[in-house]
Amino acid sequence: MSFAWAGRNAVVTGAASGIGLALSEDLVARGARVLMADIAEPALAREAVRLGAVHRVCDVSDPAAVERLAAEAKSLFGTIDLAFANAGTILNGPLADAAPAEFDFIYAVNVRGAWSTIAAFARIMREQEHGGRISVTASEHSLGFQHGGAGFYTASKHAVLGLAEVFRAELPEKVRISAFCPGLVATNLADAARPADLPQPRESQRAFGRAVQAQGMAAADAARAGLDGVARGDFYIVTHANAHAAAERRFSEIDAAFAAQAPVGEGADRYEVNRIVAEMRAARRDS
Ligand SMILES: NC(=O)c1ccc[n+]([C@@H]2O[C@H](COP(=O)([O-])OP(=O)(O)OC[C@H]3O[C@@H](n4cnc5c(N)ncnc54)[C@H](O)[C@@H]3O)[C@@H](O)[C@H]2O)c1
Repeated sequence: MSFAWAGRNAVVTGAASGIGLALSEDLVARGARVLMADIAEPALAREAVRLGAVHRVCDVSDPAAVERLAAEAKSLFGTIDLAFANAGTILNGPLADAAPAEFDFIYAVNVRGAWSTIAAFARIMREQEHGGRISVTASEHSLGFQHGGAGFYTASKHAVLGLAEVFRAELPEKVRISAFCPGLVATNLADAARPADLPQPRESQRAFGRAVQAQGMAAADAARAGLDGVARGDFYIVTHANAHAAAERRFSEIDAAFAAQAPVGEGADRYEVNRIVAEMRAARRDS
């Protein structure tokens, strides 16, 4: 059965630019009501007015602000059908030379932001009879792709996929979660602002980043693929064929390591923690 978008209530974070803006635009075009959230206030207000959406300023790295966003969305819309935990940021530089504050910044926005956004909307959706759908913008970096120089970003996107997998296991079936894993998309990501107390890139580095980013897929095409994946209820939503090769390379290396070092055979599930926990729980119930 096809998914009906018209009249749905949706919240998008990171909605002032790039993929989040394109998601908002496509959602409005499909007939959804959209609450756009971002930290970049003038752009957010301008784009929301253009699209006929409502907007709220929200810094996703602050769980209390995300909580307020979810509460406001609920009182505004009554029910929330769709949440897009999309806000994210990047910074570049070799890991061995990185500063702890850079790690904290990326993890606060990309990981704590994704977790708190998914959690806040999941708590609302699990109380709704019809549940809801949540999409978190992960990346091809979550799947085994990486380019040297964005190590904290790569690691944060692995963490985002890990969070999505655990949410999928923990949430009731009526709350569906998708991990949206695009590759290079032409957005403003390479120009992402970073706190003034962090090392700043030289203008020539920014210009190079902008030029690379501009070669990406159009944000509208990525957003369309994202929404079509949410409509199908897919967990993995992928867009760029190059990421498949990276995922395959990673998996074949893992596969070969297991074949050589820990092949499947008699008693292979002896240390399987899910079985152990289930058996211990069952034994406790019986006693
Ligand atoms: N562009 C790509 O190549 C690409 C590929 C894969 C995944 N992604 C992911 O897509 C998402 C959107 O990025 P984009 O490429 O559209 O970049 P973008 O910079 O164009 O848009 C990101 C938006 O997020 C907002 N934002 C940043 N920090 C925030 C915070 N703390 N709270 C709220 N909003 C915040 C920014 O103000 C901006 O409007 C990110 O999670 C990014 O990691 C991007």
